[in-house]
Amino acid sequence: MTQTPFRPRRSCLYMPASNNRALEKAKSLAADTIIFDLEDAVAPEAKEDAREQACAALRSGAYGKRELVVRINAMDTPWFAQDLKQACQSKANAVLVPKILSADDIIAISNLMDEYDADRNSKLWAMIEMPLAILNLPQIAALGGQKRLTGFVMGFNDLAKEMHADHERGNFLSVMTQTVIAARAYGLNVIDSVYNDFNDPDGLVAECLEARKLGFDGKSLIHPVQIETANRIFAPQADAIAEAEAIIAAFKDPVNAGKGVIVVDGKMTELLHLKQAKQLVATAAAIEALAE
Ligand code: COA
Ligand code: MG
Repeated sequence: MTQTPFRPRRSCLYMPASNNRALEKAKSLAADTIIFDLEDAVAPEAKEDAREQACAALRSGAYGKRELVVRINAMDTPWFAQDLKQACQSKANAVLVPKILSADDIIAISNLMDEYDADRNSKLWAMIEMPLAILNLPQIAALGGQKRLTGFVMGFNDLAKEMHADHERGNFLSVMTQTVIAARAYGLNVIDSVYNDFNDPDGLVAECLEARKLGFDGKSLIHPVQIETANRIFAPQADAIAEAEAIIAAFKDPVNAGKGVIVVDGKMTELLHLKQAKQLVATAAAIEALAE
């Protein structure tokens, strides 16, 4: 299994590619990832213009170190093929495809990306928002590291609609856990769904904390006002960094040379904790590097 190099994805901001002001604004926003949206945020009559604008913006090189992703229209729409082709020829780091149903969808899109001469580092992310995708999660996730697939993004607005369910977080908890497990089994990144009520900061905090505890890398966002919260909550916390540094130092101590289990701060600490500690410190360093 190929592990993708780590980069922070605490805050993944959707930006309607038809909105010029948003395209401009995103150049100064502290989102780790910008998702140029050609799908639900763009009206059918604006699709072609949005595609042109997004690709021109992507090629401009004006978004600094931010990771750039294009969410194209779904496979069964008239815009899909051109969206994918143009996205492959832009400088996007990844293409995010909505309404994925099966592993065959991923294989087909990945093959098309090859055909459209996408850079070999251009990745494929899948929206997990259809009931069939959830039934097929193990097969879809198993393509991780092959076929360009490196990430899942939850889409609960569509999933609620498809399930005929209320859009309540409790309805999605089991799906969140399943998706994180499937993603981690194959080294994929996994991003939580959006919080629609962008005027409710407390609700956003609660969703971010819940998603972080479940293992998500970050949250997809819809408005700039949500970025700071996601960046703060999905970053390693100061006490966790201090604990990780203590674990690393303890294992380096010659007294503990060759040991697989030691005591740090009164707690049993094994080599797996050392590995986790190193990962956490590396994450904190990667976040710091973004700010430079
Ligand atoms: N990305 C970048 N900039 C954004 C933005 C976004 N998602 N949402 C708002 N902004 C910008 C606005 O352009 C505006 O910039 P300005 O000050 O230069 O004019 C500023 O932030 C303030 O915006 P505000 O007036 O508070 O919001 P709004 O009423 O114009 O828009 C939404 C509200 C929800 C329509 C808008 O935030 C949006 O389109 N969000 C993304 C929707 C989306 O992509 N959905 C698909 C995924 S679920
Ligand atoms: Mg959707």
